[in-house]
Amino acid sequence: MRQSYSLTAEGMALLRAIEQARPPAQRIISDPYAAAFLRFPGFRFITRSQSLSRLMLRLFDWRAPGAVEFLTIRPRLVDELATELAAQGLEQIVILGAGFDTMALRIRDKLQGVTIYEVDHPATQAAKRETLTKIGTPTNVRFVAVDFEQDDFVEKLREAGFDLKRKTLISWLGVTYYLTPAAMARTLTQIATLGGIGTKFVFDYMLAEVIDGTSTSHEALNKARFVARLGEPWLFGLQPEKVGAYLAPFGFRVRQNFTPQELQAKYCPTRKEPMVYVRMAVCERM
Ligand SMILES: C[S@@+](CC[C@H](N)C(=O)[O-])C[C@H]1O[C@@H](n2cnc3c(N)ncnc32)[C@H](O)[C@@H]1O
Repeated sequence: MRQSYSLTAEGMALLRAIEQARPPAQRIISDPYAAAFLRFPGFRFITRSQSLSRLMLRLFDWRAPGAVEFLTIRPRLVDELATELAAQGLEQIVILGAGFDTMALRIRDKLQGVTIYEVDHPATQAAKRETLTKIGTPTNVRFVAVDFEQDDFVEKLREAGFDLKRKTLISWLGVTYYLTPAAMARTLTQIATLGGIGTKFVFDYMLAEVIDGTSTSHEALNKARFVARLGEPWLFGLQPEKVGAYLAPFGFRVRQNFTPQELQAKYCPTRKEPMVYVRMAVCERM
């Protein structure tokens, strides 16, 4: 079992933190809290400086074109979905693999009547809670520490007060890539039991061709090797046209299956096309 917090979770916080160096009108997401969660001193140093942050953004644009775009669109899309559903009576949000995501802080005024359950690996969650203790934990957040490879997170959610019958938004960002196919199926079987009528489920996934190595994108294959070296290899992917059939046995219907082009048109028409080897799907309970 991993002992240290997730470096990829820190990477996501870094991207949201450096996005703050853009003028507000050009940002895909505004996250004034992200920098507080950075633990690596070099990252903290960079985000304290506007010019170093902008330099870092240029470096990402060059080395990983579209990464900042996709990885900031991802939480923005879920913020919008949560805001929309909260206005329609949403009661619970489950964030699976929450990492250092700060939705509970970013849109706290929109989520006042909603209980947010953050589910994550104990090591990452401990690091997050350490920071939240300093900057203030929103009172509607509950923490649920699990290892998806081993634990029954539904049981743990119930122990934390989650109601299986209430309308829920389930967000699962940046996690499916890292699970084995068996852990994916097991987790989806558990996700299928969460929430009552009107429950929605949003997640992102890697294209299967990156996992099996048949992708023609050198960029994608290089990134796959890079994350493997960080100790968090990509293990799972899907073919976009088969997502509906894959999810149906788990009781979900796909409502939107966003391509990078659609995400670009919606969130950043004047910026780079988001990474081409990942997708976002919004689903509803059948
Ligand atoms: C790329 S980060 C994404 C974090 C966050 N959702 C975001 O988008 O900023 C992946 C997250 O999945 C969690 N994770 C990966 N494998 C896990 C496992 N086996 N059990 C629990 N959490 C896991 C990590 O701790 C980390 O927080």
